[in-house]
This record gives sequence, C-alpha cells and structure tokens, in this order.
Amino acid sequence: MDVIEIVRKDHDRVEELFSRYHGGSGITGLVKGLIGNVPARQRRTAVEGLCRELDLHARLEEQILYPAARATADGQLVRLIDESLREHAKVKEMVRELRGRSPEAEDLDSRVNALQEQVEHHVSAEEGEMLPRLEQVMSAERRAELGRRFQAGRRQPAQRATARRGRAARAGGRRRTGRATKGTRQKKRARGRRKAQRK
Ligand SMILES: [Fe+2]
Ligand SMILES: [Fe+2]
Repeated sequence: MDVIEIVRKDHDRVEELFSRYHGGSGITGLVKGLIGNVPARQRRTAVEGLCRELDLHARLEEQILYPAARATADGQLVRLIDESLREHAKVKEMVRELRGRSPEAEDLDSRVNALQEQVEHHVSAEEGEMLPRLEQVMSAERRAELGRRFQAGRRQPAQRATARRGRAARAGGRRRTGRATKGTRQKKRARGRRKAQRK
C-alpha cells in the first residue's frame, strides 16, 4: 500500500482517539462531551492510545518517511521536513507530560486539548503540503516500498507485546504449577532415556 495512504490512515486513527476522549462520535458522544459525562475509564484508554499511537507514528515517519523524502533533495520537501521535525519534538514533549497522568487530574482536559491543537496543525501541514508534494516527486513503486516498511514497523511493537504476554503467561504457568507433577517427571525421564538410547 502507498505510504501516503498509510500515513493518512494513522492520522484518522489519532483523530478517532481524540474524539473518543471527548465522548465518542455521533450524537451520544456529543452530549456526553457537552455535559462532561465521559467515563474516566474511556478517557484513560483514549489517552493511553493517543500516547502510544503518536509515539509510534512519529518514530516511523522519522525513521522511514522523512529520510526518504529528504533524499529526493526537493527544496520544498526538505523545508517541510525540517518544520515537521520541530513539530514532532513539541508533540513528543506533550505526550511525555501526559503519560501516567490520572484521568481525574484537573489539567488533563487542557493538556489533551493543547495536544489536539498541536497535532491537528501538524497533520494539516502534512496532508495539505508534504504528502501532495511527495506524490509529485516520488515514484509510486518507491512509495509502495516505503508503505511496506511502515506496515512492518507498525507490526513490530504489537509482536513484541504478544511475545511479552506469552513469556509472562508461561512464567505464570510455571509459578502456578511450582513443582513438576508426577506425569511431567515421568515424561522427562522417558525423554532422557530416549536421548541416551540414541547416543
Ligand atoms: Fe503524520
Ligand atoms: Fe508527522
């Protein structure tokens, strides 16, 4: 898939998380948001998702998209990337401050709103200027190749998390069983005997 399309989808995902923080989309979400009736759990999950998504998206852009765009040596793109990197630094700083904050913290709303404003400004610069310029100066094949790398980078953290959960579950399983049962001891002995016979 074209990297431009993937980046736009990432932006939509972030927009959806902001909307969830404010109560969700649709009329119910609007009312919830207006009367300040968004459950703390929903707000917390949305903030966690935002921090995770924004960190990952910025990292992938900086590792994959921006260097490739810079390598085109197109003057307009280079200027836009420099500006984008300054904006990323601001977003990352705001995300750092937001992480671990209680959903009941008094300044949470103002922090999320400030982050949203910053992100919307950045996204409109990327979607309005950088991506259209990239489409003009970079071949579709190259964009598709970058798209594959972007998607692989997206999968990596998810795979690492699954592996971590697997290891934790296995460790928990070992702790729960504690000592080996009679059955597993017998199986181990039989395996040992088979190995010895093979030697
Ligand atoms: Fe972006
Ligand atoms: Fe960006």
